[in-house]
Amino acid sequence: MSFRIRAALAGIAALAAAAAAGYALGGAPLAGYALFSTALAGAALLLWRQSRRAQAEERRRHAAVANLGDKVAVLSRRVKRLQESQEQGQRHLAERIDATYARIRQVPGDTRRLVREDDKTERVTAAIAAVREDVEAIPRMTRRLVREWNRIVYAEVEDLTALYRDIEPDRALPPMHGWAAGADLARYLYREVAEFGRSSVLECGSGTSTVILAYAFRARGEGRVVALEHDPRFAAATRQLIEERGLADWAEIVDAPLADVGVGDTAWRWYDLECIPKGPFDLLLVDGPPASVGPEARYPAVPLLVDRLAEDALVVLDDTRRPDERAIGERWADEMEGFTLESLGHDHGTLVLKRGGDAPPA
Ligand SMILES: C[S@@+](CC[C@H](N)C(=O)[O-])C[C@H]1O[C@@H](n2cnc3c(N)ncnc32)[C@H](O)[C@@H]1O
Repeated sequence: MSFRIRAALAGIAALAAAAAAGYALGGAPLAGYALFSTALAGAALLLWRQSRRAQAEERRRHAAVANLGDKVAVLSRRVKRLQESQEQGQRHLAERIDATYARIRQVPGDTRRLVREDDKTERVTAAIAAVREDVEAIPRMTRRLVREWNRIVYAEVEDLTALYRDIEPDRALPPMHGWAAGADLARYLYREVAEFGRSSVLECGSGTSTVILAYAFRARGEGRVVALEHDPRFAAATRQLIEERGLADWAEIVDAPLADVGVGDTAWRWYDLECIPKGPFDLLLVDGPPASVGPEARYPAVPLLVDRLAEDALVVLDDTRRPDERAIGERWADEMEGFTLESLGHDHGTLVLKRGGDAPPA
């Protein structure tokens, strides 16, 4: 049974009881009054109850509103968080896009740099490969150098022994190392005169070679060597070597101070031309002036003396293991038409320049 039916039945019962009690106590007027009062109390009770229900309803609505507010707040916080995370995501995305664009803009420069670095890498790789080849070649080169050195030492011993056998000197031959011509060049010079008949030698720079050539002319029985010496101390020393061996008839040491001489348009410090005999010479030994005079100090010999050389003359240049002297020999061969250059494979390096002969391979 619903509350309304129960309330209506209770109200009817209360009205009936009030009317009966009022009638019993005071007759019809009191029954009417009791009926009216009971109806009024019932109405008041209904109104109070309705008001309570309205208040409860109001509280529920309030609660619902508050609950809704909470939910809205939670929702709005979630939305805010979503917004924030979306904004953060957008910012992050924007940063990524900016970074990507920046990288894209760098690509041409990077590409150019990478190409350059590739070049560098290639150069470094090539350099490393070259060094590696050099290092790998060391044992082979060492073996070749040792063989070459052995050959040179053996040849020098042979040449020195042969010189002593051929000359049969009554005192020791002068030193053949350091500043002096080696035994290989000394023997070559000796044979050119004593065996192959050279009769007139001009020598730039006096010393051991002057003594050997004097012995060779004595063996040949004619001819002589003229040695130019710019330094009076070495001129005196060579004269002493010659005289104490009784060779004065076969050698002349000429004091030839260095002077300014012209070769083409260029001035050089070289032996004073006034001191040099006219020739002709069939062998020119170029072993001075010393390198301390200047670069290519020996160069003027051929351009200045070519007119004093016999047709079949040899020009012998010593010390051509040194780049400066080798360059002089190559320059002569380039500049002197009809001359060819030959290397003798001597210890200090000897180049021979002569007219004719086979041109060296290019
Ligand atoms: C290479 S040396 C000449 C060597 C000479 N043809 C020989 O076989 O002994 C060239 C010049 O160096 C100088 N010279 C010679 N002996 C020297 C020495 N022991 N120290 C410094 N200079 C020297 C002389 O002026 C010489 O003309």
